[in-house]
Amino acid sequence: AKVIYITAAGERTELEVDAGVNLMQAAVSNGIYEIVGDCGGSASCATCHVYLDPAFAQLVPAPGPREEQMMGSTASPRTAESRLSCQIVMEEQLDGIILRIPETQW
Ligand code: FES
Repeated sequence: AKVIYITAAGERTELEVDAGVNLMQAAVSNGIYEIVGDCGGSASCATCHVYLDPAFAQLVPAPGPREEQMMGSTASPRTAESRLSCQIVMEEQLDGIILRIPETQW
């Protein structure tokens, strides 16, 4: 299903992502380097920070305690829309999901 990434500079990339793949992994393996994914997806680096479009917030499971804790260490400001993209796993119902990438991950 489709995932839309928009960088802070406004560059938009649409990817077809298989169910079961997390949205950090999908970005990194398709050359979206504004998402870093330094820890490999274990919710321990916060360099995969994204702002989730509010229209999709209800469709994505709420952050777990580890993600909650790591979001206290994002390089760009945390907002109500902040998520760690490695903790969002693609599924069919998320088709068209929009992730805005913050200015910096470091
Ligand atoms: Fe490290 Fe997501 S890749 S927290």
